[in-house]
Amino acid sequence: MNIAIFASGNGSNAENIYHYFKKNNLPVTVALIVTNNPNAFVIERAKKMNVPVEVFYKNDFYRHPEKIIAQLKKYAVDYIVLAGFLLKIHPEIIRAYPNKIINIHPSLLPKFGGKGMYGDNVHKAVIEAGEKESGITIHFVNEEYDKGEIIAQYKIAVNELDTTETLAKKIHNLEYKYFPKTLEKVFLDEK
Ligand code: GAR
Repeated sequence: MNIAIFASGNGSNAENIYHYFKKNNLPVTVALIVTNNPNAFVIERAKKMNVPVEVFYKNDFYRHPEKIIAQLKKYAVDYIVLAGFLLKIHPEIIRAYPNKIINIHPSLLPKFGGKGMYGDNVHKAVIEAGEKESGITIHFVNEEYDKGEIIAQYKIAVNELDTTETLAKKIHNLEYKYFPKTLEKVFLDEK
Protein backbone atom coordinates (compact mmCIF):
# COMPACT_ATOMS: atom_id res chain seq x y z
CA MET A 1 0.00 0.00 0.00
CA ASN A 2 1.49 3.33 -1.06
CA ILE A 3 0.42 6.63 0.37
CA ALA A 4 1.17 10.24 -0.49
CA ILE A 5 1.16 12.83 2.27
CA PHE A 6 0.21 16.41 1.37
CA ALA A 7 1.60 19.02 3.79
CA SER A 8 2.04 22.79 3.59
CA GLY A 9 4.26 23.61 6.55
CA ASN A 10 6.08 22.03 9.43
CA GLY A 11 5.19 18.43 8.63
CA SER A 12 5.42 16.96 12.12
CA ASN A 13 2.39 14.75 11.44
CA ALA A 14 3.87 13.61 8.13
CA GLU A 15 7.05 12.52 9.92
CA ASN A 16 5.12 10.86 12.72
CA ILE A 17 3.03 8.84 10.23
CA TYR A 18 6.16 7.79 8.34
CA HIS A 19 7.83 6.49 11.54
CA TYR A 20 4.69 4.76 12.78
CA PHE A 21 4.33 2.53 9.71
CA LYS A 22 8.05 1.84 9.56
CA LYS A 23 8.54 1.09 13.26
CA ASN A 24 5.56 -1.27 13.34
CA ASN A 25 6.59 -3.06 10.16
CA LEU A 26 3.25 -2.41 8.53
CA PRO A 27 2.79 -2.82 4.79
CA VAL A 28 2.25 0.90 4.22
CA THR A 29 4.88 3.04 2.50
CA VAL A 30 5.00 6.81 2.41
CA ALA A 31 5.86 6.88 -1.29
CA LEU A 32 5.61 10.63 -1.85
CA ILE A 33 5.29 13.94 -0.05
CA VAL A 34 3.49 16.72 -1.90
CA THR A 35 3.65 20.36 -0.87
CA ASN A 36 2.52 23.71 -2.22
CA ASN A 37 5.21 25.58 -0.32
CA PRO A 38 8.84 25.47 -1.50
CA ASN A 39 9.99 26.72 1.94
CA ALA A 40 8.01 24.22 4.01
CA PHE A 41 10.00 22.45 6.71
CA VAL A 42 8.33 19.20 5.61
CA ILE A 43 10.80 19.21 2.69
CA GLU A 44 13.75 18.93 5.12
CA ARG A 45 11.97 16.14 6.95
CA ALA A 46 11.30 14.29 3.68
CA LYS A 47 14.99 14.46 2.75
CA LYS A 48 15.93 12.91 6.10
CA MET A 49 13.35 10.17 5.67
CA ASN A 50 14.44 9.59 2.09
CA VAL A 51 10.96 10.18 0.73
CA PRO A 52 10.61 11.93 -2.65
CA VAL A 53 9.00 15.38 -2.57
CA GLU A 54 7.04 17.12 -5.29
CA VAL A 55 6.38 20.86 -5.05
CA PHE A 56 3.40 22.13 -6.99
CA TYR A 57 2.23 25.71 -7.07
CA LYS A 58 -1.26 26.97 -6.33
CA ASN A 59 -1.90 27.33 -10.06
CA ASP A 60 -1.25 23.60 -10.54
CA PHE A 61 -3.48 22.64 -7.62
CA TYR A 62 -6.33 24.79 -8.90
CA ARG A 63 -5.90 24.62 -12.70
CA HIS A 64 -3.81 21.57 -13.54
CA PRO A 65 -4.90 18.72 -11.29
CA GLU A 66 -3.89 16.33 -14.09
CA LYS A 67 -0.24 17.14 -13.35
CA ILE A 68 -0.69 16.12 -9.73
CA ILE A 69 -2.68 13.01 -10.65
CA ALA A 70 0.10 12.01 -13.07
CA GLN A 71 2.66 12.15 -10.24
CA LEU A 72 0.40 10.19 -7.91
CA LYS A 73 0.03 7.51 -10.57
CA LYS A 74 3.78 7.50 -11.18
CA TYR A 75 4.34 6.63 -7.51
CA ALA A 76 1.44 4.12 -7.55
CA VAL A 77 -0.30 5.99 -4.75
CA ASP A 78 -3.34 4.22 -3.25
CA TYR A 79 -4.30 6.78 -0.60
CA ILE A 80 -3.71 10.49 -0.05
CA VAL A 81 -3.31 11.81 3.49
CA LEU A 82 -3.69 15.53 4.15
CA ALA A 83 -1.59 16.43 7.18
CA GLY A 84 -1.59 20.20 7.57
CA PHE A 85 -2.37 20.85 3.92
CA LEU A 86 -3.95 24.22 3.39
CA LEU A 87 -5.24 24.27 -0.18
CA LYS A 88 -8.53 22.92 -1.39
CA ILE A 89 -8.33 19.61 -3.23
CA HIS A 90 -9.47 19.84 -6.84
CA PRO A 91 -12.62 17.81 -7.64
CA GLU A 92 -10.71 15.91 -10.32
CA ILE A 93 -8.29 14.60 -7.71
CA ILE A 94 -11.25 13.65 -5.51
CA ARG A 95 -12.80 11.79 -8.45
CA ALA A 96 -9.49 10.03 -9.14
CA TYR A 97 -9.28 8.93 -5.46
CA PRO A 98 -12.88 8.42 -4.28
CA ASN A 99 -12.95 7.75 -0.52
CA LYS A 100 -9.18 7.50 -0.62
CA ILE A 101 -8.31 10.97 0.63
CA ILE A 102 -8.17 11.49 4.39
CA ASN A 103 -7.73 14.79 6.20
CA ILE A 104 -7.02 15.71 9.79
CA HIS A 105 -8.62 18.84 11.19
CA PRO A 106 -7.60 20.28 14.58
CA SER A 107 -11.11 20.78 15.98
CA LEU A 108 -14.27 18.84 16.61
CA LEU A 109 -15.96 19.32 13.23
CA PRO A 110 -18.45 20.67 12.28
CA LYS A 111 -17.28 23.23 14.84
CA PHE A 112 -14.46 25.55 13.74
CA GLY A 113 -14.15 24.20 10.21
CA GLY A 114 -14.33 25.83 6.80
CA LYS A 115 -12.33 28.39 4.93
CA GLY A 116 -9.50 30.11 6.85
CA MET A 117 -9.78 27.61 9.68
CA TYR A 118 -6.38 25.98 9.93
CA GLY A 119 -3.68 25.53 12.52
CA ASP A 120 -3.47 28.28 15.13
CA ASN A 121 -6.49 30.15 13.70
CA VAL A 122 -8.61 27.23 14.85
CA HIS A 123 -7.14 27.16 18.38
CA LYS A 124 -7.52 30.92 18.73
CA ALA A 125 -11.18 30.71 17.72
CA VAL A 126 -11.80 27.82 20.14
CA ILE A 127 -10.32 29.81 23.04
CA GLU A 128 -12.17 33.01 22.13
CA ALA A 129 -15.44 31.09 22.01
CA GLY A 130 -14.82 29.85 25.57
CA GLU A 131 -15.12 26.19 24.56
CA LYS A 132 -14.69 23.63 27.34
CA GLU A 133 -13.36 20.98 24.98
CA SER A 134 -11.66 20.66 21.64
CA GLY A 135 -10.08 17.83 19.70
CA ILE A 136 -9.29 16.37 16.34
CA THR A 137 -11.40 15.11 13.47
CA ILE A 138 -10.15 12.58 10.95
CA HIS A 139 -12.41 12.49 7.90
CA PHE A 140 -12.71 11.55 4.26
CA VAL A 141 -12.39 14.46 1.86
CA ASN A 142 -15.24 15.30 -0.45
CA GLU A 143 -15.97 18.34 -2.57
CA GLU A 144 -17.23 20.37 0.38
CA TYR A 145 -14.46 21.79 2.53
CA ASP A 146 -14.19 20.02 5.95
CA LYS A 147 -17.50 18.23 5.38
CA GLY A 148 -16.61 14.68 4.28
CA GLU A 149 -17.66 11.62 6.27
CA ILE A 150 -16.11 11.53 9.73
CA ILE A 151 -13.93 8.50 10.49
CA ALA A 152 -12.96 9.34 14.08
CA GLN A 153 -12.88 12.19 16.61
CA TYR A 154 -10.85 12.49 19.81
CA LYS A 155 -11.36 15.09 22.52
CA ILE A 156 -9.37 16.95 25.15
CA ALA A 157 -10.45 19.44 27.81
CA VAL A 158 -9.79 23.15 27.36
CA ASN A 159 -9.34 25.19 30.55
CA GLU A 160 -9.17 28.92 31.34
CA LEU A 161 -5.38 28.84 31.43
CA ASP A 162 -5.05 27.50 27.92
CA THR A 163 -3.53 29.74 25.26
CA THR A 164 -3.30 29.20 21.51
CA GLU A 165 0.15 27.66 22.12
CA THR A 166 -0.83 25.26 24.92
CA LEU A 167 -3.93 24.17 23.04
CA ALA A 168 -1.92 23.63 19.85
CA LYS A 169 0.45 21.42 21.82
CA LYS A 170 -2.36 19.34 23.32
CA ILE A 171 -3.94 18.93 19.89
CA HIS A 172 -0.66 17.92 18.28
CA ASN A 173 -0.16 15.26 20.95
CA LEU A 174 -3.61 13.91 20.23
CA GLU A 175 -2.78 13.87 16.51
CA TYR A 176 0.50 12.02 17.04
CA LYS A 177 -1.24 9.41 19.16
CA TYR A 178 -4.35 8.75 17.06
CA PHE A 179 -3.81 9.81 13.45
CA PRO A 180 -1.47 6.98 12.39
CA LYS A 181 -3.56 4.36 14.22
CA THR A 182 -6.74 5.55 12.55
CA LEU A 183 -5.05 5.53 9.14
CA GLU A 184 -3.82 1.99 9.76
CA LYS A 185 -7.36 0.90 10.47
CA VAL A 186 -8.72 2.46 7.29
CA PHE A 187 -5.88 1.20 5.07
CA LEU A 188 -5.58 -2.32 6.37
CA ASP A 189 -9.20 -3.14 7.24
CA GLU A 190 -10.10 -2.65 3.63
CA LYS A 191 -8.44 -5.81 2.42
C1 GAR B 1 -2.12 20.06 12.39
O1 GAR B 1 -2.52 20.44 13.67
C2 GAR B 1 -3.34 19.77 11.52
O2 GAR B 1 -4.44 19.27 12.23
C3 GAR B 1 -3.65 21.15 11.00
O3 GAR B 1 -2.40 21.72 10.73
C4 GAR B 1 -1.44 21.21 11.66
C5 GAR B 1 -0.20 20.79 10.90
O4 GAR B 1 0.87 20.50 11.76
N1 GAR B 1 -4.48 21.07 9.82
C6 GAR B 1 -5.40 21.99 9.51
O5 GAR B 1 -5.58 22.98 10.20
C7 GAR B 1 -6.22 21.70 8.25
N2 GAR B 1 -7.36 22.57 8.16
P1 GAR B 1 2.17 19.75 11.20
O6 GAR B 1 2.58 20.47 9.91
O7 GAR B 1 3.19 19.90 12.27
O8 GAR B 1 1.80 18.32 10.95
